[in-house]
Amino acid sequence: MAGQVSKPSTDVPPLLAEKHAEYVRSFSKIWESTDKIEFVATEHFWMSGMYWGLSAMALLGRLEDMDLQAIVPWVLSCQHSNGGFGGSSRNDPHMLYTLSAVQILALCDQLDLVDADKVANYVASLQQPNGSFVGDQWGEVDTRFTYCALLCLSVIGRTSAIDVNAAVHFIAQCKNFDGGFGCTPGNESHAGQVFTCIGSLSLTDKLQVVDRDLFCWWLCERQTSSGGLNGRPEKLQDVCYSWWCMSCLSILGRLHWIDQKALTNFILSCQDDEDGGISDRPDDMADIYHTFFGIAGLSLMGYPDLKAIDPTWALPCEVVARIKARNTPA
Ligand code: FPP
Ligand code: ZN
Repeated sequence: MAGQVSKPSTDVPPLLAEKHAEYVRSFSKIWESTDKIEFVATEHFWMSGMYWGLSAMALLGRLEDMDLQAIVPWVLSCQHSNGGFGGSSRNDPHMLYTLSAVQILALCDQLDLVDADKVANYVASLQQPNGSFVGDQWGEVDTRFTYCALLCLSVIGRTSAIDVNAAVHFIAQCKNFDGGFGCTPGNESHAGQVFTCIGSLSLTDKLQVVDRDLFCWWLCERQTSSGGLNGRPEKLQDVCYSWWCMSCLSILGRLHWIDQKALTNFILSCQDDEDGGISDRPDDMADIYHTFFGIAGLSLMGYPDLKAIDPTWALPCEVVARIKARNTPA
């Protein structure tokens, strides 16, 4: 089997679900901790932090433990008059946080509260003549923003607001000789970017653009002797690539090209067994981003008692089914 790595599975704890749930609950109260350095340092990305936290809780089957009555109005308070959402109410609107906001509302089954036309206008305003997307008024082009645009509009049922064919054409131009994709044409393949490109092609039903065998070889070469996956050749393994790489392999039906037992052990060895949370590598400090992507990677591999995550939508499968039912005309 390609990507096979032998790794002993001794003294790795099981998934510490209750500790991780407590860790996420304490993160979600971050705006109550204005005296803490974490408050100042992370405010600009709270919206995504809240999406990572709520999604982790949903996969653990504990979404109802979160204070959704407080979170939903807070999300809505971060929307600007142009339709975009900021990372907090005090931050400028950005594509990244606009996607996180609609993902949160979908998780909470509150999509009816968002003005979909306004959000669609904002997202459409960021598409460029060559089909690419910028993230905000400052004009950086990146395949991340194409995925965010396509997913955000898919969640609210407004993909007709943009030129989808031009968006796909731009993604196809970002394909490299190794089968991977970069952030713009000519940029090196990177596992984070490949997720955004495969996700975009999956959402638009254009996966025929992918050179499957070549690309899946590149993906399974991301597994290192630790069992963990890296994002590019010669880089260190990192828990978040359990999501960026495995979601692509899942979409392309090649999860079995990775040694899943070794990867599972790597993720479990990155847990903080005292305070909860998951870090990028063993013995580093846990954070909400790696906590979600570690749990999401385990979910893709069918870890016991975790809800299934959809590899294209980066949301629990049951939430995606609800969105599709809502957006399908009767
Ligand atoms: C690695 O970043 C990850 C990426 C480049 C992809 C990010 C994708 C999005 C923000 C789209 C939204 C995603 C979801 C799941 C809804 P990094 O800066 O950590 O890379 P590094 O390891 O090279 O530092
Ligand atoms: Zn990481």
